[in-house]
This record gives sequence, structure tokens and C-alpha cells, in this order.
Amino acid sequence: MRERFWEMVSEAAQDEADAVGFYRRMAEIAPCRAMANSIEDIARDEMRHLNYFESLLCSRQERGKNHRGRRRRETAGGRTLTIPTIPDPYPSIQVECPNPEYARLLLDDYAGMVSEMTAINQYLFHHFDMPQELADVAQMLEDVAIVEMHHLEILAELINLLGQPPMYMDGQGLFWNASYVPYLTGCPCEQLKSDIQAEQIAIETYRRHMELIDDRYIKEILARIIMDEELHLHLFSEAYKTYCSGR
Ligand SMILES: [Fe+2]
Ligand SMILES: [Fe+2]
Repeated sequence: MRERFWEMVSEAAQDEADAVGFYRRMAEIAPCRAMANSIEDIARDEMRHLNYFESLLCSRQERGKNHRGRRRRETAGGRTLTIPTIPDPYPSIQVECPNPEYARLLLDDYAGMVSEMTAINQYLFHHFDMPQELADVAQMLEDVAIVEMHHLEILAELINLLGQPPMYMDGQGLFWNASYVPYLTGCPCEQLKSDIQAEQIAIETYRRHMELIDDRYIKEILARIIMDEELHLHLFSEAYKTYCSGR
């Protein structure tokens, strides 16, 4: 009975995530701004429901001891993930036309100081450094790093299509540097705090770049990546609340 309850919580979270994606797609094609705003309000309500079910899953005492009851999902790369994922497919990778200025903006997201490249290395290092008692956080960090690898790949393809080689550098031509990673060795709560901040900055930067880039294909792709980053922000915040609040 109890196991069935947790399966239902997991299914409810997935249904809410589906609903959020559905309403967001609906708002994007609404015939007027007023309708779009109302539908976005509904999507925000669904997001609150999603957050509730995810917080139940995150605070579950048995979490980490028994993953058999949880749904396992595949990533684009065929790797099995244990974290929840956004069900919406990624838009196809295309651009309206080559544009070196847009490539430079995306290079900042790709391999700048706070970037996909930094996120991958930051979350992997925090995964390596997590203590045994936070094994489920360690697993989550590795899974999120795998999603960030997919973002890196998407940005590499876009930068190529925009006419620049996707070398590991920012928009100013500064090569990516391992000192960008906030290592915070031995301090799991500080690490989680820095992971939360990384997601917040990524979301802000992607939103700003969506305003600066006048290419409908790139805007759609960045909007889809932001959905992933919002989910990561939620997962990290819940983990912080579970293991670090009060410290
Ligand atoms: Fe990302
Ligand atoms: Fe992320």
C-alpha cells in the first residue's frame, strides 16, 4: 500500500510536469496577450503542484535506499536517469541564418565563467566529493551533469550553424578555465548553495539572450533549455532544504 502511494506521488509529479509543458506550449500560440497571460497563470499553478509532489519525493525518508519503485527515464544519449525530466521534446536544432554576434552570445552560455561547461564540471566534482550519507544527492548531481552535457551539445551545434567553431571559450575569446568551478571541497551544503546559484544565473542569462537574439528557432531552443534549468533549480533547492536547512 505504502509503496503504491509513493508510485502515485511519482506519477502525479510526472502528470503535473506534462501539464506545465502543455500549458506553456498553448500560451506560446495563444491568439492574444491576455489569453497567453491567463494560460501562463494556469501553468504556474501546475508548477506549484509539481513542486509539492517533488518535495514529497525529495523528503521521503526511504529515498536513496530503494530506487526500484521510481520510474527510470532515458536521456537523448541513451543513459538512464533517476531524476525527473521535462517531457517536452527539444526543438530541432536550426537557425534562421548565420550570425557571429549571436554565436558570441551563445559562447558565453557554452563555455563562459557560468556556463554549461562549468556546470558539467562543477556538478561532477560535487558528485565525486559528496559524503556517503548524501549518496542520493551525489546521484542527482551526476544525472543533472548529464543533462547539462546535452545542453552543451545543443549549443555546440547552434554555434556551428551560426558560423563559429564551438571551441571551449566565451564570447570574448577567453578559453574556459578549471578555476571557474567552485570546488568547496568537503562542504556539501556550500556546494549545493553554489549549484542553486549557478542555475539561477543560467536562467537569467538565457532569458536575457532570448531577448537579444531575434531568431525564432534559437529562442525556442533556449526556452526549452530554461525549462530544464528551472527543474534543476527546484531539485537542488529541495535537496538543500532536506539536508542543509538549519545548518
Ligand atoms: Fe544547462
Ligand atoms: Fe541546469
